[in-house]
Formats: sequence, structure tokens, C-alpha cells
Amino acid sequence: MINFKPHERKDVSLRVKWLNNKKAAALAIENPEKETTAAEQEDWFNRYEADHGKNFFTIFDDKKPIGFMGLSGINSDKKTASVFILIGEDEYRGRGVGVVSMNYLIKKAFNELRLKKLTLEVDKLNVGAIKLYSKLGFKIIGENEREFKMTLDFFKISMPSVSKNNFKNLVKYNGYQVFLFTCPVSIPLNFASHPWFVCVKNGEISRWEVRFEKNKINPSLGKHLHFNSLPPFSGIEMLQIIPKKFLWPANLVGYIEGGEDSLAKKIIDFIETSSRDYIYRNQYSFIGPNSNTYAQWVLNNFPDFKIKLLWNSFGKNFKLN
Ligand SMILES: CC(C)(COP(=O)(O)OP(=O)(O)OC[C@H]1O[C@@H](n2cnc3c(N)ncnc32)[C@H](O)[C@@H]1OP(=O)(O)O)[C@@H](O)C(=O)NCCC(=O)NCCS
Repeated sequence: MINFKPHERKDVSLRVKWLNNKKAAALAIENPEKETTAAEQEDWFNRYEADHGKNFFTIFDDKKPIGFMGLSGINSDKKTASVFILIGEDEYRGRGVGVVSMNYLIKKAFNELRLKKLTLEVDKLNVGAIKLYSKLGFKIIGENEREFKMTLDFFKISMPSVSKNNFKNLVKYNGYQVFLFTCPVSIPLNFASHPWFVCVKNGEISRWEVRFEKNKINPSLGKHLHFNSLPPFSGIEMLQIIPKKFLWPANLVGYIEGGEDSLAKKIIDFIETSSRDYIYRNQYSFIGPNSNTYAQWVLNNFPDFKIKLLWNSFGKNFKLN
């Protein structure tokens, strides 16, 4: 399994090996024809230790070191940094390690270091790297004779493609997202629709809904208000008598996303306090109040979240006091 550790002094010899590997470094560093030495890399590490604007990681496959990556020029005022990655072991390039590693680094930069923009320069002939960065949402914003300049903006990450039942691809590791899903109610009431919200805060996913079943795991939320009682992107049980098995597929009704001041964040804050504010959290009836009454209550409070529950969302019109 691919994993990452902060760069250590003992990695200096690996840096020498990888930076001198022409197959890896030819399009990645300046002057690749000039061999680096242990002394130069020791010196680099001394400067690295003293430089708070750098944060580097060694990439491992289980215990085998295979490459390194890092952030440089971390500027906490401008909230920017530049990125670099080099997979030094030949047999590990082109196998998806770049995507996994860069995702880790981007998460670190945006979630932990709270940066807002990442930049890089890439050789115009470095097709693999350009593909990798484009896939992660980096955009070309400039060029010189030899290189493209690319940036990744915290709030402008392009939407990865999503196929039905692969809603995970929509989840972003930065910013806020609220999804509304529905599925049929358990048989024999499966002509009716059951809704739930999935909230994503910087990649952290939670699921909120009102269910007929009592909440035994977290009763303090309310007898029928549930938090994470099922996986986020699965419907409820087809058969109520067999809990957590044979789940309906989920249908995405709509979603909204944004940054710190966004409607998405406000909706998440609202949903997270619904165990305090939703007055029917301890009641459930098929005609309402029920799961649809709860979802409609949230939507009513955010008319700008312009999505509508379906015609068969019985309980959505239950009169809310
Ligand atoms: C650039 C680098 C980090 C990419 O990592 P990787 O693990 O090889 O890339 P991945 O396997 O994650 O592939 C990412 C995407 O790029 C594509 N890709 C990777 N290498 C490619 C190549 N040589 N030619 C064409 N496409 C390539 C993959 O097909 C994949 O796209 P897809 O999902 O649409 O198929 C790695 O090849 C490397 O370390 N290269 C040498 C150092 C370097 O150039 N660093 C960049 C400095 S700016």
C-alpha cells in the first residue's frame, strides 16, 4: 500500500539515486545532465531543515521507498506554495502512484496548512506529469519557451466525472458540499421516496436523515434523527427486517458546494444543529412528520438551494409549526 513519511536525513542517499536516475529526472529538474552528489543533497537537507517554507515527504510502497514529493515556498500570508513530485523507482511510474501521492499532498496543503493556491512549472514535453496535474484539476495559466505554469485553486477545482452510483467521485477534499439523495422506501411501501442529506466538510463525509427506525446508536440526537446510520451513498434497506443489507441504490436529486462563506456551509451548520432545532426529531408517522418532513424543513430554510423533493415524497407537506 502506498504511504508517506516526512522526509528524513536518511533519505538523502535515495534523493541522490532518484535525482540521478535519468529516466525519472530528465524532464523534472533543471540540468538533469549534471549528476548530483551526496554532499550536495546533504547540503540541500541542511537548508531544508532550516527552511519552514518547505514540507517534503518520501513515498513508500509498504516499506519500500519509491520517490518523494513536497511543497516549497510555503507562504502563509498569500496562502500559496509550489509542488514537486518525483517517482524515482522506474517500475512504479504509470501505475497510479502519482495520483494517490498528489492527492495526499493537496489535502495536506489545503486542509492542514490552509493554503488556497498551489503552483508548479512543468516541462512542455513531460506528458505524464501534465496529464497527472490536469487530472487533479491544475490549469495551465502561462508558459515560457520550455515550461507550462499551472495552478490549482482551492475554490476552483474542476468536477471529476461522475457516473451513476459512483457519487464518491463528486466528493471534494476542499470546501463544503451538501447532497440530497433519495431512494424508495422499504418494500411494500417502495412507491414512496425516502430522502437523506450527505454533508461534506473538506472531504469529511456525514449522512443525516430521519428514519422510521429508532436511533439506537445515538439516541441523544432524537429518537428518529439519524447520523451516519448507513453508508453515505446507499439507499435504505429494501427489506426492513434485514437491517443494513440489500440497500436500494441512491438517486442524486441535487447538490450545492462552495467555500467558507457559502450557502453549502450554512446548510451544513443548520443540519448539524438539527438535533436541537428540528421539533419532530422524536416523532415519526408515515403521513408525517417523517423523513420527507425533515428534508423539506431543511430546504424551506434555504430557498436558494433550489431543489425540490419528488412528488412521491409523502410527508413533505406536513404542516411545520
Ligand atoms: C509525473 C509522475 C509524478 C506521474 O506519476 P505516475 O504515478 O507515473 O502517474 P499516474 O500513474 O498516477 O498517472 C496519472 C495520469 O497520467 C497518465 N500518465 C502517466 N505517465 C504517463 C506517460 N508517461 N505518458 C502518458 N500519460 C501518462 C496516466 O495514464 C494517468 O492518466 P489516466 O488516468 O487518464 O490514464 C511520474 O511519472 C514521475 O515521477 N515522473 C518523473 C518525475 C517528473 O516528471 N515529475 C514531475 C515534475 S514537474
